[in-house]
Amino acid sequence: MNYRSFGKSGLRVSALGFGCMRLPIIGDDSGKIDEEEAIGMIRYAIDHGVNYIDTAWSYHQETGEKVVGQALREGYREKTYLATKLPSWLINSQDDMQRYFDLQLQKLQTDHIDFYLLHSLNIHAWENYLKHKVFDWAEKKLADGSIRKLGFSFHDRYQAFETILNGYDAWDFCQIQYNYMDVEYQAGLKGLRAAAAKGLGVVVMEPLRGGKLALNPQPQAVQAVFDQSGKDWTPAEWALQWIWNQSEVSLLLSGMSNMEQMKQNIASANRSGPHTLSKQELAVVDAAREAYKNLAPISCTHCEYCMPCPSGVAIPDIFQIYNNGKAYDKKEQAVFDYNRRIQAENKADQCIECGQCEGLCPQHIEIIDWLKTVHAELYEASE
Ligand SMILES: NC(=O)c1ccc[n+]([C@@H]2O[C@H](COP(=O)([O-])OP(=O)(O)OC[C@H]3O[C@@H](n4cnc5c(N)ncnc54)[C@H](OP(=O)(O)O)[C@@H]3O)[C@@H](O)[C@H]2O)c1
Repeated sequence: MNYRSFGKSGLRVSALGFGCMRLPIIGDDSGKIDEEEAIGMIRYAIDHGVNYIDTAWSYHQETGEKVVGQALREGYREKTYLATKLPSWLINSQDDMQRYFDLQLQKLQTDHIDFYLLHSLNIHAWENYLKHKVFDWAEKKLADGSIRKLGFSFHDRYQAFETILNGYDAWDFCQIQYNYMDVEYQAGLKGLRAAAAKGLGVVVMEPLRGGKLALNPQPQAVQAVFDQSGKDWTPAEWALQWIWNQSEVSLLLSGMSNMEQMKQNIASANRSGPHTLSKQELAVVDAAREAYKNLAPISCTHCEYCMPCPSGVAIPDIFQIYNNGKAYDKKEQAVFDYNRRIQAENKADQCIECGQCEGLCPQHIEIIDWLKTVHAELYEASE
């Protein structure tokens, strides 16, 4: 296994971490983990040099941590770093923080968490944490050793990332969504560089966009790019190597859901390293990205010239969700993202058709009409 520096911590982590959000399950119920298979996979990963296991309170309908805890018995806990996360959306006091943390230690059968994250921060969760003085609580845990490193995982716009990154001066690490299609999305490349420049370890999640960049074959236009490259890498390997090529990345988490994927990704990690891709190989990934972009119906480049919208509509984010749904043929995901990730006050139906955005859009997109289309296709009223 290749190991990499974890920011300025002095720790060495495996290039590949195991993201335990997509463990093998029995049937269609994500709450029913195939425990034997999952435990076998976690132990196989550790036996082959993986030393970073990532889980969270919410994974597998709150059953994930328990299975990870079982996997780490019989000496495995001592061989790996363990990461888990405080469920930000359930926290309304320091008592809540303490209660979930204690339950997590119990489920994970351990007395400390090596990497503890404030889970899925957006600007609202961040403000809520500040209100409840999360750092007063967390610093006590750091002092007594039950938390070894403190970080956050992130899902919001870049500006929120900067606010959070600079809003606490002792972050050890962060976890961001990053892959060759999300260079300018959420934290993106700018966020990766900003965090690394401050000495944080940077953990990459969703390196395959939750599996969408690994479909084999890819959409025809994308597959053609890989086929013409002269290399026999799978689409998954192209995506993973592109991330490992970047020295600012400490490790990437792959949510491997079967043993075959795990073996392939361990082999890929063993071939990886910063600055190992040639110019030609990087050009292949650029071409795959372009091919994907051409599959998107709205020609939005997320430049944000249209922002801020006077009515608060999150125009580029909404178009990105819609485009992703179409390009990857994942309507369900787009519906989920639109309804769960875009707040009511930022949804497309807040548009008052003032037209300011259309005057500013360098791509001349008919934004008002597209907003109506997207809302009609993706909005689901909550009960
Ligand atoms: N903190 C947060 O807010 C947050 C959010 C998301 C994720 N995470 C963490 O980050 C981890 C990684 O994210 P992710 O699970 O979305 O990772 P990902 O690597 O982008 O997607 C994982 C999926 O990719 C496919 N895959 C993996 N290796 C493959 C291979 N060699 N060949 C073909 N397909 C392959 C599998 O899809 P199929 O099952 O469809 O085959 C797998 O389920 C998560 O597991 C979780 O631990 C954290």
